Amino acid sequence: MKTLEKNVILITGAGMGLGLATAMEAAALGAKLVLVDYNEEALQKTKSDLLNDYPEVEILTIKADVSKEEEVEAYVTETIEKFGQIDGFYNNAGIEGKQAPITEYDVDVFKKVIDINLLGVYYGLRYVLPHMQEKNYGRIVNVASVGGIRGVMNQMPYVASKHAVSGMTKNTALEYARHGITSNAIAPGAILTPMVAGAFKQINPDDPKAAEKEYAQANPTKRLGLPEEVAKVVCFLLSKDCSYLNGQTIAIDGGQSNSYGNV
Ligand SMILES: NC(=O)c1ccc[n+]([C@@H]2O[C@H](COP(=O)([O-])OP(=O)(O)OC[C@H]3O[C@@H](n4cnc5c(N)ncnc54)[C@H](O)[C@@H]3O)[C@@H](O)[C@H]2O)c1
Repeated sequence: MKTLEKNVILITGAGMGLGLATAMEAAALGAKLVLVDYNEEALQKTKSDLLNDYPEVEILTIKADVSKEEEVEAYVTETIEKFGQIDGFYNNAGIEGKQAPITEYDVDVFKKVIDINLLGVYYGLRYVLPHMQEKNYGRIVNVASVGGIRGVMNQMPYVASKHAVSGMTKNTALEYARHGITSNAIAPGAILTPMVAGAFKQINPDDPKAAEKEYAQANPTKRLGLPEEVAKVVCFLLSKDCSYLNGQTIAIDGGQSNSYGNV
């Protein structure tokens, strides 16, 4: 069954990684897609990959930076002008920042992480929610992280921003469930995307593969996750079937966040 048939699904950070994988899965499930990213080249690559596999899919691409409020307002307006509604919103764009101890963390990088990961998610909610409320229907999926439910060494701003995403998800659930809108967050562990490849390079510049192996070893599954595995969960959360699951931050991490000590 095509669970997103005729649904308009808006995805930020659609140029690669988790956004790209969700766009692919949503296309397979019959969605019409609005793809937002500030990397125009990556956005066009996503579009051509999608059209290659799903020639029938309707796609609107919009270049926008989610940390700029006026660009968020504009991507929502353009979506409504083209499709008239937003059924599902995958509020996904985010950055990791740099890895550094608290006292050495570059304050400008700290502010940038907060601008994109926290305010970018908030602006998205602020401009999308009124359109969902008007239709008395909507599905929101915000992207937190295991860093939104646990601390992560040397990544304080990332952890702060992702805890905030989890908090905003809860508030949206409380304030908008009466309007037929559910709001959930996902908390991925280490999933093999360009972002995580970059993190392994920071952790071990001489041998990023060794850092990857070490991460995999610490996971109960003894491997990292794949973007497609996350996309399946996201597309359920974006579907009509997700009608009474609300305000949750769902870890997608092979079970790792349940552990205390070695596995
Ligand atoms: N990959 C993981 O293991 C992992 C784990 C936990 C959480 N996450 C979260 O998942 C989300 C996606 O991560 P990913 O691994 O796919 O990253 P990625 O770097 O592979 O892809 C992110 C995409 O978002 C875009 N983007 C970044 N900042 C943007 C902005 N300000 N405006 C518009 N587009 C922007 C990038 O151009 C890129 O196309 C992020 O919020 C990240 O924090 C990822």
